Amino acid sequence: MKNKLSIIILAAGKGSRMKSPTAKVLHKISGRPMLYHIIKASLELSDDVSVVIAHQKERVMEEVGALFDDITFVTQDAEDFPGTGGALMNVTPKNETVLVLNGDMPLINADSLQGFLDSDADITMSIFRLEDSSGYGRVVIGNNGVERIVEEKDASEEEKKIHEVNAGIYAFKRTVLETYLPKLSNDNAQEEYYLTDLVALSKNDGLRIEPLLVDEEHFKGVNSKFDLAESEVIMQQRIKEKWMKAGVIMQLSDSIYIEESVTFEGECLLENGVRVTGDSLITTSHLKAHTVVEDSIIKNSDIGPLAHIRPKSYIEDTHIGNFVEVKKASLKGVKAGHLSYIGDAQVDTGTNIGAGVITCNYDGKKKYQTIIGKNVFVGSDSQLVAPVIIEDDVMIAAGTTVTADKVEKGSLAVSRTPMKTVKNFFYKFFDN
Ligand code: UD1
Ligand code: CA
Repeated sequence: MKNKLSIIILAAGKGSRMKSPTAKVLHKISGRPMLYHIIKASLELSDDVSVVIAHQKERVMEEVGALFDDITFVTQDAEDFPGTGGALMNVTPKNETVLVLNGDMPLINADSLQGFLDSDADITMSIFRLEDSSGYGRVVIGNNGVERIVEEKDASEEEKKIHEVNAGIYAFKRTVLETYLPKLSNDNAQEEYYLTDLVALSKNDGLRIEPLLVDEEHFKGVNSKFDLAESEVIMQQRIKEKWMKAGVIMQLSDSIYIEESVTFEGECLLENGVRVTGDSLITTSHLKAHTVVEDSIIKNSDIGPLAHIRPKSYIEDTHIGNFVEVKKASLKGVKAGHLSYIGDAQVDTGTNIGAGVITCNYDGKKKYQTIIGKNVFVGSDSQLVAPVIIEDDVMIAAGTTVTADKVEKGSLAVSRTPMKTVKNFFYKFFDN
């Protein structure tokens, strides 16, 4: 089946309604550009996938092309042939059946497209019924079935009341595209070449057009940031359902956000408000309330509440408590219970990081490493000025600023101004 179908994804438009300097198809859903989700579904169905680009084309190729090997980018002549019809004019699909997808539909998946592949009509087009059909092209249906699609900006007041809308996905016989694309005109409100006009053109010649009723949950188009937020909710539900079925426990799952690129293994427990992003891998761990994990690996550990694990961290057999920030650090068999910053560091087994400990990793110009060995006791409120090596079995007294490059195995490091007590000072000061 895979080699009988060509897929064309339209991604050349600007997306003015997004009110954004970023091209619409690059806006993210669950951490990936919208276009990524569509290409992923397309590659499950076809080995001839073309993506039509124009607006910000270098950026689109860079951000999405890097993630896939097997796609062809085609540039639309958007200057002379703007519009969704114009977008198809430079594409030469290899196969007899051509599925055309809008790049702003991140919620489609391979299953939801099956109906288009089963049909043998000249054009199979997607329709859904909406109470509020604003923003979509309306489908005019007569006694003989679908007659034409009228865009909102060209629709009469009567046509605007139509509840059947064009979802924006079509399967064409390739000959239909070859015959009718050259016949499109831009005589409409937007002065664009509308792909949707192929319906009326081929209907007039007696071709067979089959409407396919689809659901909004898979075929919702994203035109505004409001649509983006609504689609995000649906995508999040799918991602979380998948991981819950794989054994992850989620408390108040609606409050949890997990990006598409994240992986869980074993039985993990996520409390409310947890956010996990990037290429994170979480194995048999407990992420407590409102913990954020970015692009990191966590194994057999408990983290939070309210901890921030920043990119490129590796945490294994470790306890991390509240208000701890970790960045680009490796912690194995460590306890860091409260209020610390551990950045650009390696910390080894049996080591305890006291409350308020800070790795001073940055001197205003460069970042430096802190290496901490086994069984080290880092007393509360210590600062470790990097670069620094703390060898095994070291004690660092509370309140110490470690400025040496190295503290040798078995030592105590302490830096303190001597404390003194002034008797009855309070009573003299307040004169009572
Ligand atoms: C389009 C349909 C409309 C349908 C809706 C469904 C047309 C004329 N209208 O409208 O009937 O209800 O989708 O979501 O097709 N694009 C290009 N080149 C362009 C213009 C657009 O590649 O010159 C791409 C865009 O990047 C986008 C897709 O085509 O991914 C759809 O364009 P958009 O402007 O969102 O079309 P709609 O107005 O939503
Ligand atoms: Ca759209």
